[in-house]
Amino acid sequence: MNDDPILSAADLLAQKKNLLIFTGAGVSVESGIPPFRGPGGLWQKVNPDFFDIDHFMSHPVESWKRIRSIFYDLWGQCAPNPAHLAFAELERLGVAFSLVTQNIDNLHQLAGSKNVIEFHGTLGRLRCTQCAFTGAPTKELLAGDPPTCPDCGGLLKPDIVFFGESIPEYALNQSFADAESCSVCLVSGTTGEVMPACMVPQTAKRRGAVVIEVNPEESAFTAHTTDIFLRGKAGEIMPRLVAEVVKRLS
Ligand code: APR
Repeated sequence: MNDDPILSAADLLAQKKNLLIFTGAGVSVESGIPPFRGPGGLWQKVNPDFFDIDHFMSHPVESWKRIRSIFYDLWGQCAPNPAHLAFAELERLGVAFSLVTQNIDNLHQLAGSKNVIEFHGTLGRLRCTQCAFTGAPTKELLAGDPPTCPDCGGLLKPDIVFFGESIPEYALNQSFADAESCSVCLVSGTTGEVMPACMVPQTAKRRGAVVIEVNPEESAFTAHTTDIFLRGKAGEIMPRLVAEVVKRLS
């Protein structure tokens, strides 16, 4: 093990090339999207109960006003930051085979990551609560108060996982399958406090993977799940880590 944890992490990534990346809201902070917890966190300003599915279904107009102002007013305004680009580079290098994100902002895909599993869904798709309709969040579709389905007139919702909703079956199954087969799990930008998402890195650890964590603060993973803790912002640490991996692969 090197004294510099970034060099130890780079050695590992260059050797193993069987990396699962697991991200949370913190990796999008440097793109201008606030996190949910900690300094500037959304839940300090908005009661998370408003994002319970029963509240949404029983207060659609009020809920949609809040969803527009919190999420869709920013939609399309934020660009991937160096952290997203670094994660995509690890996939391009053949080091990362999968990326599980708790984020709903589509920034990993915009950065070029192809194999992205959206554990909590995406703002990039609206879904009808009554029929099988799905569509992109166009100005027209978002215009309704609340937005309604062009096919059946039913209430539309962002295709994100509200509190009280289950994780999409594909995302749940594939995330845990990847956690069981990876040999390194790189965790970044997450407090690790939300179930069942936080079980993904814990499953990787239990199955013998080495866990690398990138976060300016300690998280629920740091003490008992993380093997190599890289303290810092993902937008600063990740490009340095990838540069070291590239050196080892060339
Ligand atoms: N780089 C890396 N990590 C950062 C950065 C940064 N620049 N800035 C903040 N962080 C870290 C914080 O230290 C914290 O650990 O990102 C984390 C943000 O935590 P949360 O806001 O709780 O985000 P997350 O863990 O993804 O939340 C999980 O909770 O409310 C639900 O569905 C929501 O997907 C979300 C889930």
